[in-house]
Amino acid sequence: MLNFEFKNPTKILFGKGEIAKISNKIPKDAKILMIYGGGSIKNNGVYDQVKDALKEHDLHEFGGIPANPEYEVLVSALHFIKENNINYLLAVGGGSVIDGVKFLSAAANYNGEPWEILKKPVRTFEGEGMPFGTILTLPATGSEMNSGYVISRRETNEKLSSGGPGLFPQFSVLDPEVIRSIPKHQIANGIADAYTHVLEQYMTAPSSADLQERIAESILISLQNAAPKVMSDEFDYDAAGNFMWCCTMALNGLIQKGVITDWAVHAMGHELTAYYGIDHARTLAVVAPSHYRYNFDAKKGKLAQYAERVWGITEGSIDEKAEQAIVKLEEFFHSLQIQTKLSDYTQDFAGTAERVEKAFTERNWLGLGENKNLTPQDAFKIVEMSY
Ligand code: NZQ
Ligand code: ZN
Repeated sequence: MLNFEFKNPTKILFGKGEIAKISNKIPKDAKILMIYGGGSIKNNGVYDQVKDALKEHDLHEFGGIPANPEYEVLVSALHFIKENNINYLLAVGGGSVIDGVKFLSAAANYNGEPWEILKKPVRTFEGEGMPFGTILTLPATGSEMNSGYVISRRETNEKLSSGGPGLFPQFSVLDPEVIRSIPKHQIANGIADAYTHVLEQYMTAPSSADLQERIAESILISLQNAAPKVMSDEFDYDAAGNFMWCCTMALNGLIQKGVITDWAVHAMGHELTAYYGIDHARTLAVVAPSHYRYNFDAKKGKLAQYAERVWGITEGSIDEKAEQAIVKLEEFFHSLQIQTKLSDYTQDFAGTAERVEKAFTERNWLGLGENKNLTPQDAFKIVEMSY
C-alpha cells in the first residue's frame, strides 16, 4: 500500500428532514448567499425548507447556475458577493451548483483574475476559501464531500478543474427525499458518474490495499443493486438512500488512498462536454469501454478481478474474464438507457480525436493515467475508438 495522508472535514447530515438542522451549522451573524440552479428546488419544496430553516439568518440568494457551471454566470455571482459583503455560501443543488460555489469560495478571497484559478490552476489551501455548506439535490458527483470542482467556459470551449484542501464543504445535507423529483435520465447520469468514479480509482492494477479494493467493489455492487430500484417509477426511500451514500463514498477520498488512480476517462470526457454539451456522465460511458480496451494489457489483471468479484464471472482465463468485464460494463450503462458511442450523441464528431490530442498537447498533459504514460496520441486513438 502506498503512503497516504487522509483528512476529510465535511460533516454529513444524512436523512429525511435533516435540512431543518442547517440553522445550527451556520454562524448566527453570517451574511449568507444561497446559490442554486435553474429552479428545480422551487418545484420540489427544497427551496421552502431552506428558507424556513434560515428564517432567523441574513439570507440572500443567487439562482440560475446552469448545468456544467458557466464561468460568466459565476463571475456575476462573485460581484454580488463582493458588493453585498457576503461571508458564507450555501449551495443548494447538484454537482454543478456545488462546484460553482467551490469556485466562488476560492475566488472570493483571491487577488487576481479569477480565471487564473482554473487556468494555472491555483489550489486553495485551508483557511483561504470562503466557508460554505451544501444541500445536495442530485446524487452523482461526490462534490458534497470532496474538495475538487469543474467549471466550464463556453466562450473558449474549455472545461477545467481545480480544488484544494480549503474547499471541503463545512457540512452537506443528504436527504434521499430529494430524489423523488429527479428526472430518470438524471438519475441514470448520477449512477453512471458515481460508478465511473469508483472505476477511475480501481481499474488500474491489482494492489495490496485490500480494504480500499473491497470498499470500491462494494460501492459498485451496491450501485448495481440500487439502480433498477431508483430507476423505477415507485419511490423507494432505502434504495434512494443507498444510491445517495454510494455516490458520496465513491468520491470522498477514501478509496483512492494508498492506491494508484487513473482519471484519464474524466479528462477525455470533459472535452466531449466542452465541445458538444453532452452530459458529463454520458461522456464517461462513451470513453470508458474504449479506454479499457485500448489499455487492456496494463489493466487486464484488475478487469478480471472486477469480473470475478463484482459480476461473479469465475470461468475462463484472465484475458477472457477481462474481456467479459468490459462487455458487462457496457451492458450496465445500456441498462440505464445510456449509450456508449459518441455517434449516439452527435453526428458531428469528425475531428474530435484530433481536437482532444491538440488540447492535451497544448495543456502539456503529456502523461495521463495511473502510470502517467498515456500520451495525447493515445487519447487520440481512444477517442477515435469511441466514435
Ligand atoms: O438547475 P436545476 O433546476 O436545479 O436542475 C438540475 C440540472 O438541470 C437538475 N436537478 C438537480 N437536482 C434535482 C434536479 N431536478 C429535479 N429534482 C432535483 N432534486 O439536474 C440537472 C443536472 O444538475 P447538475 O448539477 O448539472 O448535475 P450533476 O450533479 O451531475 O453535476 C455535473 C457537474 O459536476 C461536475 C461535472 O463535470 C459537471 O460539471 N463534476 C464534479 C465533480 C466533483 N466536484 O468532484 C466530479 C465529477 O466527475 C464531475 O466532473
Ligand atoms: Zn464524474
